[in-house]
This record gives sequence, structure tokens and C-alpha cells, in this order.
Amino acid sequence: MNNEQLTNRREFIKKGTLLGATLAVSPTLFGNVQLGGRPAILGGQGIWENKQWPQWPRWNPETDEKGLLEVMRSGRWVRGTRTNDFEQRWATAIGTKRALTVVNGTSALTTAINSFGIGPGDEVIVPPYTFIATVSAVLFNGAIPVFADIDPETFQIDPKQIEAKITSKTKAILPVHILGLPADMNAIMQIARAHNLVVIEDACQAHLAEYDGKKVGSIGNAGCFSFQNSKNLPIGEGGAITSNDEAFIDRCMSYHNFGLPTGQFTPGQDGMLGNKLRFTEYQAAIGLVMLARLAEETDIRHTHAAYLSSLLKEVPGITPCQLYPEVSRGAYHLYPFRYDPAQFAGLSRDGFLKALRAEGVPCSGGYHPLNTQPFIKASFDSPLFRKAYPSDEIQYERYLERNQCPANDQLCKEAVWLTQNMLLGPRSDMDEIAAAINRIQKNAPKIVKLPA
Ligand SMILES: Cc1ncc(COP(=O)(O)O)c(C=O)c1O
Repeated sequence: MNNEQLTNRREFIKKGTLLGATLAVSPTLFGNVQLGGRPAILGGQGIWENKQWPQWPRWNPETDEKGLLEVMRSGRWVRGTRTNDFEQRWATAIGTKRALTVVNGTSALTTAINSFGIGPGDEVIVPPYTFIATVSAVLFNGAIPVFADIDPETFQIDPKQIEAKITSKTKAILPVHILGLPADMNAIMQIARAHNLVVIEDACQAHLAEYDGKKVGSIGNAGCFSFQNSKNLPIGEGGAITSNDEAFIDRCMSYHNFGLPTGQFTPGQDGMLGNKLRFTEYQAAIGLVMLARLAEETDIRHTHAAYLSSLLKEVPGITPCQLYPEVSRGAYHLYPFRYDPAQFAGLSRDGFLKALRAEGVPCSGGYHPLNTQPFIKASFDSPLFRKAYPSDEIQYERYLERNQCPANDQLCKEAVWLTQNMLLGPRSDMDEIAAAINRIQKNAPKIVKLPA
């Protein structure tokens, strides 16, 4: 944001404040923002009416295009030295011996699950509060996802719920560091060790998030990342698998390249049906640019998120998401909090989202419960599942019963998300987001009376 935009915004906030003194509640100091005034949804001026949120992805033609142009002009666009370089740097950034790039985060997950030999007859424990790909990657391999409920304070899979879901068929736990915030990995690893289970971390939203001094994606047997357009390391599409297990990465490498021999793995002898999921040199060229600024951006998100949480916890009815004590850095792919209508004069979450958007603050209600989505039943009805399983093992009503997640059902009704780019502007943006939410809370008795 340039100086002129900043000045306009300050002027604009000042006007809104003065106007508000006569029209609605008196101005209050909240964070560092003096804010009263009528909320935009009641006809006042939106706090961000003229606001440009930090753009995403960030691309600076002067500094960012050199490597990409070199690739394009070289004529070597398929996997090569730049991809090797990106993989080495990604492994170093995460703190694993190896990293393998693939076409997207979904294929990182399907490749990792396949390469641990997980398939029909096996169960994989997953959280219900995640993106669809976590669960479809299990189903693509013919295995059954088993849902363990979440902890509403942290939005993460609850280790206490995992143990109860383990059976003789369980092969892996697939914790997701959802929203870019680490799951409780020490507790999860302890359970996995006790039951001899593989742990595949879905870190698709959690680039450089840190738990107990380690980067997520380096704690379990494997980590899976996404570089899709919205992600904190955006390449448009792309993904990676990280691991300290070299033989496993060699198997993944073969799988992602038609099953051709790689490193310690000799598919000619062992037999391997491969896929083709290779990264390209132009993806690597973009990835190298994005990786160079990822650590600094991650620190800014983490610091601004902590500050925003310190402000929002003062607003009645808003509960910021908590981090586990072991977390020293959240990646905050999304900034989450819970919303309680009872403290907003009964204003529904949809009504709150509408009022916040009217202020110029983009927001959403996030995920719907995944454990009851129709794609699971459709998978059970598919030829793969019907041929691989006796019918009573994929009886859907029984499956639904076994996979209820009431805490997640409630969280899906209460959650509110802001996107990661909103944390990248000046710290004063956090004051203004919090002030807007505060002003909606103060005026909720009037907002709730608006026609739907
Ligand atoms: C938690 C999670 N897992 C997996 C994926 C899949 O990644 P991709 O979109 O790169 O296939 C995503 C992407 O949004 C995700 O958020």
C-alpha cells in the first residue's frame, strides 16, 4: 500500500469515527484504532471500502522472472536440474533428508499412501476438519478413511479420539496441520509407536510451521505439501513429499515416474505399477522464487496472527483458535476463530459474515463436515470397493454410525476464517480487523433486526 492510500484510509477512518459519534455508539479505542460509528451493514462507511488487501500470489516482474525466462528459453521444460535444486532446498527447509516434487498435494498424498503399501482392507485415521483431498487420497488407494473427532480449541485432530478408532486393520494415522497450524504431534507419534502405525502428515497448508523445534512434515514417516495457487508457497499447482526414509522416497520417486527403477528400489525385481506425476522446470523456477521469501512471510503471519488473537479475545463471542504449547510458529494459511451468536444478540454466523464483508473484510465459514459427504458413499458403491470388500465391511449406514464427529459438526457451525494474505499488511490492519468485529458486536442488536 502506498502513502497516498494509507493517508486516504486514515482520513476515511477518522471520518467514520466522527460520523459514528453522532450516529451510533460513541467512539471507543480498540487495539490502536479509535472506532465507533455505524457498521457498514447499517449504512455506515465500510472500514475497508477503499482498501487493497495484500495481493496473492506476489510476483515482482523485475526480480522474479529471470529464472523462469531462462527455463522457457532453454527449451528444457521437463524435470531437470532446477527441480533437483528445488527439492534439495525444500528438504533443507523442512529438515528432512529428502524431498520429492509431484504435480500437486493430492498426488503427494496418494503417492505416499501407496508407497507405504496401504490399500484395500486397510484403514487410515483422518480428521473430519480438512480439505476433501486428504480423504479422497485414502479412497483412491482403496483403503477406508476412519474419522477421529477434533479438538474445538485448536481445530486439530484430537489425539484422545484417535486411540479409540484403532483396529487390527489400522495401518496409518494421517494428521492434518489444518489452517497451517500444527497438530499435536508428540501425542500422535506416541500413539503411532505404541500401535506400530505409519504417520503421514498432511502439511499441505502448513509450510514452515514449527512444533517442538521441528518443521511439520519432518516429524512423521512422511510429510505432504501443496503448492497450489492460494498456498503460502504458491506455484499455481505443485506438491512435495518429505521424509528421512530414503528407501521410501525412492519408492515414491519410482511411482511418480511410471514405476521406473530409482535408487535403492528396483521395480524390475520388486514389481511396481507407476503413475506419471512429474514436476516441471518452470514450476521449479517459480518455486525457488517463492521459497526465498517464505520464511520472512511466515514470521510476519505468525506475529500478526498472535497480535490479532490478543485483540479478538477481548470481543465477547469471539474465541481465537489456540496453538499447542509446543508450537513456536504457525503458518496461518488461514486465520481462524469461533463465533458465538449468543454474544451477538442472536445474530447468525451468516449474518455476522455478511456484516463483516460489508466492512470490506473478506471472510468465510470454512469447511462442512467431511465425514458425511456423498463422495464416501459413492466410493463404497464403486467397482473397486465392491470387488475388494465383503459387502458388510462397506455397509454405509454402519460406517456413518462409527464415524460420527459431534465436536467437528459444532465447529463447522462456529468457525470463521480470514485468508493468509490479510496477515501480510501492516500491523495496523490487525487493529482495524479487530475494530470492525468489535463494532459489529456492539451494534448486533440493531443488525439482527435487518431483513434477511
Ligand atoms: C489439507 C489439504 N490437503 C490436501 C490438499 C490438496 O492439495 P492440492 O490442491 O495441491 O492437490 C489441500 C489443498 O488445498 C489441502 O488444503
